[in-house]
Amino acid sequence: MTKFDYSNKVAVVTGGTSGIGLATVRTLLESGAKVAFCARSKEKLENVESRLKDEFGDDQVLARALTVLDEDKVNEFAKDVESIFGQCDLLVNNAGQGRVSTFKTTDDQSWRNEFELKIFSQIYPIRAFQTMLENENGSVVVVNSLLAVQPEQHMVCTSSARAAVQNLVKSLSIEFAPNIRFNSILLGLIKTNQWERRFEDREDQSITESDWYKDLASNKGIPLQRLGNPEEVASAIAFLGSSDASYITGAQLEISGGLSKHA
Ligand SMILES: NC(=O)c1ccc[n+]([C@@H]2O[C@H](COP(=O)([O-])OP(=O)(O)OC[C@H]3O[C@@H](n4cnc5c(N)ncnc54)[C@H](OP(=O)(O)O)[C@@H]3O)[C@@H](O)[C@H]2O)c1
Repeated sequence: MTKFDYSNKVAVVTGGTSGIGLATVRTLLESGAKVAFCARSKEKLENVESRLKDEFGDDQVLARALTVLDEDKVNEFAKDVESIFGQCDLLVNNAGQGRVSTFKTTDDQSWRNEFELKIFSQIYPIRAFQTMLENENGSVVVVNSLLAVQPEQHMVCTSSARAAVQNLVKSLSIEFAPNIRFNSILLGLIKTNQWERRFEDREDQSITESDWYKDLASNKGIPLQRLGNPEEVASAIAFLGSSDASYITGAQLEISGGLSKHA
């Protein structure tokens, strides 16, 4: 079923091989877009690429193994998208992960690594795809976290880096207006590998998966009483990137089951 109108559109998703990124790639393909995506693990990437090509057609999918922190590789990726797909209408900056540590347990190198990941995973792809996005009056959707506006002490480093990203998105939405729209999503807890890894490492191995997630939602005080699904996030990303959101820029959309505490 077509969810959004992406016919004749090209979308690029960083970190497209699992969780939110993969759900976004699928939603955009189902909506008629040609989709290019990247991730670091070549093996996983080729696996996902071949499944998607079987399902949606060879000419709809382009995949490249790279880290978004390697500017030369990101530039090569953009050149490939231009030569193979000819354009870019939507860039979804999704690649990354959070870091669990308090101020006392974060050393200097970890601060540098975290800020490098959060900031340059935005800067390099935006710079590489900027001209194509301008040519198409395109849009960028930044996958960010509620931590940007509601920090948590056990993720102090990630929280402050997320706030910096939020500030950057606002600046870019003004500098690149009216040619490129920039919006972000602020996530609460979404059920992906990141949480599955924590479930696997749970202290009490006798607790079942459904009880563990129920307790997690309850302990966090999520009003909708559950974690979100990657597909629920993908729909919001596809909406913000589509022409249905043509008057929305510089905005932040919370996808958290009501977890934010501010009005
Ligand atoms: N799940 C949540 O509750 C939650 C909450 C707030 C924010 N987020 C953010 O949402 C985004 C997606 O997370 P997710 O939960 O869907 O995690 P996930 O399932 O672990 O997916 C992360 C994706 O990004 C790729 N990736 C990671 N680092 C990369 C890099 N340096 N260069 C290129 N690709 C990279 C991963 O593949 P490789 O490992 O092969 O590179 C994978 O495809 C992340 O930025 C995360 O921090 C998630």
